[in-house]
Amino acid sequence: MLDVREINTYYGLSHILFDVSLSVHKGEIVCLLGRNGAGKSTTMKSIMGLTPPKQGEITLKGDRVTGCPPYQMCRRGVGFVPDDRRVFADLSVGENLEISARPCQGSDGWDKERVYGFFPALSALDRRRAGVLSGGEQQMLTIGRALITNPDLLLLDEPTEGLAPIIVEMLEEKILELKASGLSVLLAEQNQNVALRLSDRAYIIDNGHIRYQGSIEELRQDEAVRQKYLLV
Ligand SMILES: Nc1ncnc2c1ncn2[C@@H]1O[C@H](COP(=O)(O)OP(=O)(O)OP(=O)(O)O)[C@@H](O)[C@H]1O
Ligand SMILES: [Mg+2]
Repeated sequence: MLDVREINTYYGLSHILFDVSLSVHKGEIVCLLGRNGAGKSTTMKSIMGLTPPKQGEITLKGDRVTGCPPYQMCRRGVGFVPDDRRVFADLSVGENLEISARPCQGSDGWDKERVYGFFPALSALDRRRAGVLSGGEQQMLTIGRALITNPDLLLLDEPTEGLAPIIVEMLEEKILELKASGLSVLLAEQNQNVALRLSDRAYIIDNGHIRYQGSIEELRQDEAVRQKYLLV
């Protein structure tokens, strides 16, 4: 599905990502774990075309997409849920979804009704101004907005950060439901508990370098690696 090969990304003159490589296969949940400032969001934004890498290559479903702008990545089937949960504050929940909708081929695509079926709590908020939603509601809306573009690959940047445990649990269930429906997911996380529960495979990024890759089982057993790179 996604293949990232030795990308190097900069903010101005600051070199942030150093030869970062990772892959996501169809139907997998892959997590990108790392501490504060490790480069998780920069990796997500590099894939989405928001901070295009200076070197390296990104391949999506066999096509080279390095440097493609975000709207093209979206058209090619990548849904992005950024870490800041940005919604259009002055629009209603329903309008936020409607302006993001992207029709898909076939009949089982995502539309507003399907998003409301998936997140029933949002349905009751259809006319509510998005700016007044709680953190958990906003997160459902940003995920809903990504889903309504009918992606094959979802980039989730710390989707559970700062949310109450009961909401985290609900979102975890929903992410697993998406995987069961065939979606591939790249999940950036600082919280190893969430990542260990959801993922099939893991990468650890530290200071812009990938320091570890393995199955989730291997990572669970590798206390030393988790201590070294993940505990604050
Ligand atoms: N717009 C920017 N301009 C300059 N430097 C930036 C910018 N955004 C991030 N950085 C720097 O790039 C590095 C990686 O940041 P990034 O946001 O990718 O980390 P992260 O792993 O997502 O961290 P967090 O867990 O806090 O979200 C950090 O050193 C950060 O200070
Ligand atoms: Mg981040």
